[in-house]
Amino acid sequence: MIGIINGPNLNLLGRRQPEIYGTDTLEDINNWLLDYVSAYGNEAGGGSLGSEGLIFVQSNSEGELVGAIQEMGFDPAVKGIVINPGAYAHYSLAIRDAIASVPVPVVEVHLSNIHAREEFRHTSVTAGACRGMICGLGKMGYALAVESLLL
Ligand code: DQA
Repeated sequence: MIGIINGPNLNLLGRRQPEIYGTDTLEDINNWLLDYVSAYGNEAGGGSLGSEGLIFVQSNSEGELVGAIQEMGFDPAVKGIVINPGAYAHYSLAIRDAIASVPVPVVEVHLSNIHAREEFRHTSVTAGACRGMICGLGKMGYALAVESLLL
């Protein structure tokens, strides 16, 4: 299985600054992602994704995000984690340390191009602990991140 973790304020997608983040809700994106990866076998027992497919966590709390990374990151059934840490990407050393602490690969995703926005968004302290980072491609970033973890 692959874990999909979304951080603070991403529960507001669809209503939150649609000119930046689009009009899809997080549920829309998660359902689209399930559909996108169905080719890899999201059904029971099959495919490279494993029998449990994708598992989704969203939290507005730094501690809960650290807990989710720890739990998924040491679960032998988890092949990798895709995380959009939201604003925590810009300053949470606790989330960076959690990513660096787990054996499974983690890929960071941002819907928007953080380098084309305010200067404080140009740095991600968490991305350096990840296998890679995708930004600016909207929901496609999550799909490409999942695919990269299945290679
Ligand atoms: C974001 C970018 C962050 O700078 C911002 O704080 C978010 C969303 C993105 O997906 O583009 O909450 O992670």
